[in-house]
Amino acid sequence: MVQFLKALGLGLSTASVLVAAVPMPTAAPNILNAVALEKRASCTFTDAVAASKSKTSCATIVLNNIAVPSGTTLDMTGLTTGTKVIFEGETTWGYEEWSGPLFSVSGENIAVSGATGNSLNGNGAKWWDGEGTNGGKTKPKFFYAHSLTGTSSITGLNILNSPVQTFSINSATGLTVTDVTIDNSAGDTDDLGHNTDAFDIGSSTDITITGANVKNQDDCLAINSGTSITFTGGTCSGGHGLSIGSVGGRSDNVVKDVTISSSTISDSANGVRIKTISGATGSVSGVTYKDITLSNISSYGIVIEQDYENGSPTGTPTTGVPITDLTISGISGSVASTATNVYILCGSGSCSDWTWSDVTLTGGKTSSKCSNVPSVASC
Ligand SMILES: *[C@@H]1O[C@H](CO)[C@@H](O)[C@H](O)[C@H]1NC(C)=O
Repeated sequence: MVQFLKALGLGLSTASVLVAAVPMPTAAPNILNAVALEKRASCTFTDAVAASKSKTSCATIVLNNIAVPSGTTLDMTGLTTGTKVIFEGETTWGYEEWSGPLFSVSGENIAVSGATGNSLNGNGAKWWDGEGTNGGKTKPKFFYAHSLTGTSSITGLNILNSPVQTFSINSATGLTVTDVTIDNSAGDTDDLGHNTDAFDIGSSTDITITGANVKNQDDCLAINSGTSITFTGGTCSGGHGLSIGSVGGRSDNVVKDVTISSSTISDSANGVRIKTISGATGSVSGVTYKDITLSNISSYGIVIEQDYENGSPTGTPTTGVPITDLTISGISGSVASTATNVYILCGSGSCSDWTWSDVTLTGGKTSSKCSNVPSVASC
């Protein structure tokens, strides 16, 4: 019964009060019926304002071919526990210079999914000016998955043409993202798409991203902080690779227990990347990169460096964000002839307890600028 009440969106404490207030057993079903009547099982919306207004009174919210007005968030924050959100057809957003987000969702045990043929079309070309977040037009971020808790999921969404960064996963715990496609390949034309990160993760725990298919112009994955994060079965192309960092200089600077595995990265600047901020403090520990296949990488196959400042490397590593208990295993494939196979720039003693096996990268240059490389690894 408690489970059933929970399914109806009642917290445990509320349920206990209700049940205690009436004689058992005959009255309890009446109360349940009343609650069930109050809350509509499924609501279909074709209008963004109506959807945001009525969101807490529907157990299932269908967003059907919604054209979201410009400068407006399709706001699914603060949903009732257990709510399902289903995107149907094409969701579009009007043009306006603003910082977004275009969509936002929060709550406990929330399941966001896409019906067959769904498309979330950010119409990025209207904003793309080659500058991303560095200047030009103010561009809306796309999808905030902030403060999702319990056991939440995002499944089967097809994201098209994000104006700038796509998924921001922050302050989330227990979120699984499955079979999401992000296609920003139109932004390759004249290099207009920029900073179109696929998944940015911060201050989150127990996050799994599986089967992502990404075509973009920045990180496929960027983890700035968080614990127990898995990225597996991903396909990334056109961007900057699978990144941790830059770590340091934020309010949360701990990255712990991350597994990035069974993925391919092609036509990208980097494959595997860890970068930490010069002079900052924090830690990167328990990270595993395993079974990653690279092709046509233009800068670095594997790059691990402790020297970032204002978004660029300084060339001088510092030791305040140690990278420990790192496993690099089964990284294979080819990088471009102008690129570097492996680059490791560590401070003295700030890279330790590494495992390094089956790294077979070919085609690029061998770096002569590596420093403090743990003995098991090599440039
Ligand atoms: C290699 O990747 C770059 C993007 O980094 C792309 O512009 C280029 O067309 C790719 N080359 C081949 C042969 O696919």
